[in-house]
Amino acid sequence: MRHKPIKSKLFLQNRKRIAELMAPKALAVINANDVLPTNADGTLPMQPNADLFFLTGIEQEESILVLFPDAADEKHREILFVRQPNEQLQIWEGYKHTKADARKISGVKNVKWLSEFPVIFRSLMCEVESAYLNSNEYKRANVEVQTRDMRFIRQCQTDFPLHRYRRLAPLLHELRVVKTDLEIELLKEAVSITAKGFRRTLRFVKPGVVEYEVEAELAREFIKRRGKFAYTPIVAAGKNNCVLHYLQNDQECKKGQLLLMDVASSYANYNADLTRTIPVSGKFSRRQKKVYNAVLRVLRASIEGATVGKLHKDWTKEAQNHMNEELLELGLLKKSQIKKQDPDSPACRKYFMHGLGHPLGLDVHDVGDNNKPFASGTVLTVEPGIYLPDEGFGVRLEDDIVVTEEGPINLMEKIPIETDEIESIMGR
Ligand code: GLY
Ligand code: MN
Ligand code: MN
Repeated sequence: MRHKPIKSKLFLQNRKRIAELMAPKALAVINANDVLPTNADGTLPMQPNADLFFLTGIEQEESILVLFPDAADEKHREILFVRQPNEQLQIWEGYKHTKADARKISGVKNVKWLSEFPVIFRSLMCEVESAYLNSNEYKRANVEVQTRDMRFIRQCQTDFPLHRYRRLAPLLHELRVVKTDLEIELLKEAVSITAKGFRRTLRFVKPGVVEYEVEAELAREFIKRRGKFAYTPIVAAGKNNCVLHYLQNDQECKKGQLLLMDVASSYANYNADLTRTIPVSGKFSRRQKKVYNAVLRVLRASIEGATVGKLHKDWTKEAQNHMNEELLELGLLKKSQIKKQDPDSPACRKYFMHGLGHPLGLDVHDVGDNNKPFASGTVLTVEPGIYLPDEGFGVRLEDDIVVTEEGPINLMEKIPIETDEIESIMGR
């Protein structure tokens, strides 16, 4: 674990919250993620399961949490199963949680070895009226491999065919979309690490550096501060500004170009999500500055517009209307194009073709129902852009905010964004 210990209160709170949403006499099972294979005997670094982490703080592979709030025996209300450390594991992989460690991290009193799971689970299943099982219900997820959760669901259906099964995902989404203060603290740390990385690039970028060298500077800053890339970094110079999911990061940054960096750190599994667009030579051209400031105005208005009770689709519509006006001013759209636009595909989509923002948290595109109005505690990204491949550049700016009753809080307020400030830091 690279992050500092987290108060188990965070996870206790979350288990209490989910217990309140569960039907009577039901249990819930949450599995760790699989360690995914690559080639030969290779594996990807283990990505902790966000839901298991949310409820326990446990990141270790093969762990299982069982919640049974109405269990007759108090010991069965929360049980955490972890792999039993042994000599072979110790030699090859090193540290694995002891029961005491798992108890301390999660606050779950009853910690068992994984080998005990089948017998205990069978006995609990004979007591319950229904079972909540977990699965990835993210709308745009494209899951081509069978997940551990899915194998578990199939196994349960085989072993207990007459049970009633329920979906745990909607309950978890409902809770995870609204962040508690303890979660916001972790997000703030991710943002703080991200800010330091970005400031480092302002001192580093100049004509002749290669995109991957910029990536390396960011990695150095993030990793030494207990962070890591929250997602595959986008470091895109010149016309690559306009490739929304540019990942090659292998081109030289040239004088006169802009460098778009959609790069952020995570901390303790909580993700920041930042985009800044800076001039490679330290000075924006007049045209670049005009386009940049148009994006900045839409960003600022959209931050202000992210208020409690607003629907995501209305928030987006406001930004699109604003963007239409900016594009008109820039000479990129004509009044007639706006007038006859298809409301489902507004004129600005030619230059601003992606979403305005998304929930952020334990996942970068975090879970949450987009059809529900913003609640206080919702964390969102705000990320307008204008992409002009014909002019050889594009601008995207992205901040992370918390929606509150008192208005939005910009977690990235201190990360340089004004053209003057960026030019002044780069000129030093
Ligand atoms: N970095 C991913 C996104 O902005 O959505
Ligand atoms: Mn981003
Ligand atoms: Mn984003």
